[in-house]
Amino acid sequence: MLMVHEIAPLREQLQHWRQAGERIAFVPTMGNLHAGHLRLVAEARGRAERVVVSIFVNPLQFGPTEDLAAYPRTPAEDAAALEQAGADLLFLPEEQTIYPHGREAVSQVVVPQLGEMLCGASRPGHFVGVSTVVCKLFNMVQPDLACFGQKDYQQLTILRRMVRDLDLPVEMVGVETVREADGLAMSSRNGYLSCEDRQRAPALYQSLQRVAQALQDGRRDFAALEAQGSELLSAAGLNPDYFSIRAADDLRPAEAGMAQLVILAAAQLGRARLIDNLTVSLSPTT
Ligand code: PAF
Repeated sequence: MLMVHEIAPLREQLQHWRQAGERIAFVPTMGNLHAGHLRLVAEARGRAERVVVSIFVNPLQFGPTEDLAAYPRTPAEDAAALEQAGADLLFLPEEQTIYPHGREAVSQVVVPQLGEMLCGASRPGHFVGVSTVVCKLFNMVQPDLACFGQKDYQQLTILRRMVRDLDLPVEMVGVETVREADGLAMSSRNGYLSCEDRQRAPALYQSLQRVAQALQDGRRDFAALEAQGSELLSAAGLNPDYFSIRAADDLRPAEAGMAQLVILAAAQLGRARLIDNLTVSLSPTT
């Protein structure tokens, strides 16, 4: 596996592969890789001849009081795992390479509305940081396709919209969430959980499953179901940020008659902000 830190040698290598007629799949990450990331790499591996992974802890997507400094950085372990997973190239840029004029001065990519609701409401500027860095990474790598985890459902929805709005020639692939045996979605931030909180954390997925079942059973009183979801979280010792039922394609609030829904929830648990979601397909008769 090649390791590259600068844009010029990255482009040079990618050009060789493109000239050989090879398709390039891209997996952007912030490192501290777990089985969820490796599933993205496996998906990429199955869809293209070459797999490029980036590791960049993007300061632009962290709020001033968030965990940028504490965010786990494990580059040696990550490189070994990626080599094993069959990645062809690991791009490890420094902040100066991504934001040469400073992150405060960078031109920004804003996806309005979608970027301001749910996690965007609690983390102002977060999704501007995400869409800006992903747009820049897409321009550096120019991949044929890119893989993102469905665990970050709002992020994936926003990035799909960015790709469509800006006509970026990248196929967006959403990859199923990888879960621990007790249902907790894998996340680099799970490492912040104390032993006690780790026992509580599966309540997030369980609350989504309870509300999904209620929808399957025919309930359409969305506000009451959202309140019930939040109560389940509070009862389990989590501090809910939101619990929301939305249209699966564009995250507008759920209405009776919609067939494809997604339930999204975020909650604070000790030092960790946990997010998760569950899509629900309803037959028109239910
Ligand atoms: O999902 C992540 O790890 C990050 O938000 C991403 C997409 C790599 C952008 O920094």
